[in-house]
Amino acid sequence: MRAVSLEGRGNLGEWRDAARALLAAQIHPDDVRWTTSGGAEDLFGINQVPVAQGPADSMSAAFSVPKAFVQAAEAALCHSEPDRFSLLYRILWRLQRDRALLGDAADPDIIQLKALIKNVRRDAHKMTAFVRFREVPPGQAGGRRAFVAWFEPEHFIVARTAPFFQRRFTDMDWLIATPKGSAMWNGRSLETSTVPAERPQAEDATDELWRTYFANIFNPARLKIKAMQAEMPKKYWKNMPEADLIPGLIAGAEQRVAEMAARQASQPPAFHERLQAAWQEKADDEEGALSRAPRDALALLKREAETCDRCALHCHATQTVFGEGPIDAALMFVGEQPGDQEDLAGRAFVGPAGTVFDHALSSAGIERERSYVTNAVKHFKYEMRGKRRIHQRPNVGEIEHCRWWLARELEIVKPKIVVAMGGSAYFSLTGERKPLQDVRGHPVALAKGQILFVTVHPSYLLRIPDEVMRQREVARFQSDMQAVQTLLRLV
Ligand code: URA
Repeated sequence: MRAVSLEGRGNLGEWRDAARALLAAQIHPDDVRWTTSGGAEDLFGINQVPVAQGPADSMSAAFSVPKAFVQAAEAALCHSEPDRFSLLYRILWRLQRDRALLGDAADPDIIQLKALIKNVRRDAHKMTAFVRFREVPPGQAGGRRAFVAWFEPEHFIVARTAPFFQRRFTDMDWLIATPKGSAMWNGRSLETSTVPAERPQAEDATDELWRTYFANIFNPARLKIKAMQAEMPKKYWKNMPEADLIPGLIAGAEQRVAEMAARQASQPPAFHERLQAAWQEKADDEEGALSRAPRDALALLKREAETCDRCALHCHATQTVFGEGPIDAALMFVGEQPGDQEDLAGRAFVGPAGTVFDHALSSAGIERERSYVTNAVKHFKYEMRGKRRIHQRPNVGEIEHCRWWLARELEIVKPKIVVAMGGSAYFSLTGERKPLQDVRGHPVALAKGQILFVTVHPSYLLRIPDEVMRQREVARFQSDMQAVQTLLRLV
């Protein structure tokens, strides 16, 4: 009996060298005992069999092994199943005599091999979805933003999955620590290690933003508990900041569905009734009801906008949703158009996008009450789907018609910094249509000397289906708000 001791962490090179030596010496699989203890039992002469060193796929050249086997071995070795080394050697041995073995779907060794690979792929997929980064103080080099994450995979998948994070998070420094090794990216090189890592201590404001975001995108009407738990197994919950919200959200789902149905059923008053009420109020003011009369230019403008019929959107919206905030605000935020909840409440950014917006502001230390918050278009544009009013993007004509109001708001408030959130706001403020990524985060001067800062619209963050991507974008939005806050201190 030969005993082979490997480090046992899914290293193809190490297993390949040992397997190649065993095969060259024609050692039968039943005569080999593979262990992963790393030392006590030595290689029993295995290393004395001369083997050519080479890259991982050179095994196929030396023993004419199908390439598919090398790829399968690479994946299966990441599994934590202790028998994986002997299974692979047995298959390698049999492949020398049966070239078609890999295609035999009924063979017990092949069935087991496929099961290992499937588990590894699934674990890697979960890692890409459930790693949650937390911001830590920047490292020395270059002062880039730095993040750490703690994850508990079932298998040795860190090195295999690390390139995914490198591609996704190229512009920040990060460390993913796990009990099965770690991966680190510093903008230049990706380092991976198989040494079990310590859980990093980090908790930051991103957690709170993430939780808010999750609570907002959670749609009780679409709740399918079994599917949700299959997609997001409980074992991953403990390292996800949003996880402790899930039981409460599930428990309250029924009530929230009933509330949503009640809200959907409430129809806005017919257009002519609204118009009549607005004219009546205007007439009352003109008759001298001074206590209700607007006291400043902004309030006058708002009153005037109540009966705006510059475009057709006023016909179906509940009301004009005008901007609000102090008349001397130094900071103005411009969104796209009111959503369903804003339309009913008559106030900008009070629905789900508003919650994401509010949290990003507070995480950056910006006081919403001291800012002026408005939209490029002042009426809600939607289409009916069943009983639901689904947001529709305003078109160029609608934005151009409504631009008149935004120009008046800018004239009266005279903010020092204007933040355009999304493409519609950018178009309304500049008359230009450009890809957001080209203009995002680069402050430019507007015609009247105000600084324009462009970022994404908060609703965009609510729509990103991919968890990892969403987390990254939430963090970017938050960092845009921090940049705005820094600018504000400078002007
Ligand atoms: N989206 C916007 O652009 N504005 C709002 O007020 C709400 C959602």
